Amino acid sequence: MTPDTNSPNQQNQNIESFLREDRVFPPVEAKELGIPKWHVGSLEEYRTMHARSLEDPDGFWSEIASELDWMRPWDRVLEWKAPDARWFVGARTNVCFNALDRQVRGGHGADTALVWEGEPMPNGKPEVRRYTYQELLDEVSRFANALRNLGAKKGDVVTIYMGMVPELAIALLACARIGAVHSVVFGGFSSQAIVDRVVDSSSRIIVTQDGGWRRGNVVPLKENVDSACATLSDTGRDVNKVIVLRRCNNSTSWHEGRDYYWRDIVDVSSSHCPAEPMEAEDPLFLLYTSGSTGKPKGVIHTTAGYMVWTYFTARTTFNLIPDANQMYWCTADIGWITGHSYILYGILPNRVPTLMYEGAPDAPSEDRFWDIVERHQVTHFYTAPTAIRSFMKWGNEHVHAHDLSSLQVLGTVGEPINPEAWSWYHRMIGRGRCPIVDTWWQTETGGHMITPLPGATPTKPGSCTLPMIGVHAAVVDATTLEDLPKGTGGLLVIKKPWPGMLRGVQGDRDRFVRTYFDNPHGYYVPGDGARFDEDGYVWIMGRVDDVINVSGHRIGTMEVESALVSHPAVVEAAVVAMPHEIKGTGISAFVTLEPEYVENLGMNAKSLGAALRQHVRGEIGSFAKPDAIRFAESLPKTRSGKIMRRLLRDIAAGNQDISQDTTTLEDYRVLAKLREAEEV
Ligand code: PRX
Repeated sequence: MTPDTNSPNQQNQNIESFLREDRVFPPVEAKELGIPKWHVGSLEEYRTMHARSLEDPDGFWSEIASELDWMRPWDRVLEWKAPDARWFVGARTNVCFNALDRQVRGGHGADTALVWEGEPMPNGKPEVRRYTYQELLDEVSRFANALRNLGAKKGDVVTIYMGMVPELAIALLACARIGAVHSVVFGGFSSQAIVDRVVDSSSRIIVTQDGGWRRGNVVPLKENVDSACATLSDTGRDVNKVIVLRRCNNSTSWHEGRDYYWRDIVDVSSSHCPAEPMEAEDPLFLLYTSGSTGKPKGVIHTTAGYMVWTYFTARTTFNLIPDANQMYWCTADIGWITGHSYILYGILPNRVPTLMYEGAPDAPSEDRFWDIVERHQVTHFYTAPTAIRSFMKWGNEHVHAHDLSSLQVLGTVGEPINPEAWSWYHRMIGRGRCPIVDTWWQTETGGHMITPLPGATPTKPGSCTLPMIGVHAAVVDATTLEDLPKGTGGLLVIKKPWPGMLRGVQGDRDRFVRTYFDNPHGYYVPGDGARFDEDGYVWIMGRVDDVINVSGHRIGTMEVESALVSHPAVVEAAVVAMPHEIKGTGISAFVTLEPEYVENLGMNAKSLGAALRQHVRGEIGSFAKPDAIRFAESLPKTRSGKIMRRLLRDIAAGNQDISQDTTTLEDYRVLAKLREAEEV
């Protein structure tokens, strides 16, 4: 902590801020921030729009959708037969067309569409590339033709495993252009994760790069793809084509006839590639996300509804305005839904430049983000609470070293923000003036579901405030599904369909229905607990299932458990969430061992812990490594053999006084031993 945040005085203030969650920050005048106008300028206007969007969804969404370009108009706005929603039925459009061609045709081909900054600073200078809409359209069209030349067709799944380079954006848009379905695998995932996703989606083409930059190191992306392909090949599921972008010039192996360099295939391709007219409900992409069972699920998003939803929510939540000198920056990776929706698909159709940064926030130094904000005159900054907590820890001097006065609207996403981090963000980054939009949503929702609107909603630190226009949110009793009174915690549900909702889970209809719509009303159940306060503000209370949200990344406890038990030393593993100062939530694992590993454990506990972490990294990815591991003789179970996770959660959190009911515990000794077990 910096002196600023660590002084006793400040600590008292922090404690106070936790206790005083009734603080309300009213919206400021647009003029005060140099913004021409707020799209939604008052709470009253928001309420009117919200009410209309629910009472007359057809009329409301027709108007919004009409702002975009269609190759065939819709016959009906919505067909809803829970759990299946079809939006803009009968329409044809293309998402890439609306992102790029639409701007070029509107006379804005020379405007900046995308600004990219690389991580390395050769000779102390950042590497920056800028693309106008026309340039991006040309590159996307070339790559789209290259994909077609390699045999990719409408409906084929193209797996994309890359770092944050402009070609990643180009690859997604090119798929959308020809109607191929992209399945992006975040570059931090292991080769095993690629295998699982390629198999599940029956994908035959992978787009990757030689390596990606991360804190000055090269992430061996192509090597991971090669080992994934080898595993796939062993099981007879060959990947036919691998497209490799050169970025780090690290040496990689080469498979003639399967591997192609990006430049070799793109340079010979034409930049003329008309956008494929897509049916409204044709799939646009798959994105795998963790659930409460071991296997990640491929969330399906389709064309028209997702396009309209991301366009509308991006504009409304961030108050995007073309020709107003805005520079929008979302720090997420395109490998997650935040990057899909709010680096690309929601931003480009709004004709505001989107900034992409390749690397880490502390490379080469801890002021890198603020340096980027200052040099690119960033007006919109959208990040995760975990990042904010890191900035706080790194010290205010990094912020003070830069002029951040270009900033207008700040956003957070992915996990609850603690009031302390909110206040720091507001004061230090937002000069006490910029509105903060704390956006609650999910991979499955496609876009923002509960969020303040910057010109309309008074904010309360720690609350994601009010449902988005078009969203019918409620908090219900988990058993009766009856609405709960304000102030009572329960299950968050969305009662009506919205355009950006998921349409299915790849290859698993049953899982789609069971996970999200397992109730007679057809409510969408996101898996979060929440309560409304007396003003109707939503306070998210965290996941109600076995999903842990680490640094805003969703990880299933069972996924980590399966990874652990696949190590030869491990007999049984139980994984629970634990509080973590920076990540919000960390991963705590309780592990029982094979007898031969138990014998010498005293001396080897630390190295075995390290080996298990390395193993999880190989099975899933670095971000899923347990923060704490405890070796145990056995795990606490009920008489019917269920692991008592609530007890483990208490131990992981360091709660000394475990007052929970343990009468069903098979063996009280287990608990005492576990408490004594050293954390490695
Ligand atoms: O628990 C909620 C949490 O993140 C989950 C969704 O994770 P994912 O699909 O990976 O998407 C993250 C980016 C949208 C939710 O079920 N979550 C997301 N945003 C917030 C949040 N929790 C509290 N406040 C938020 N603003």
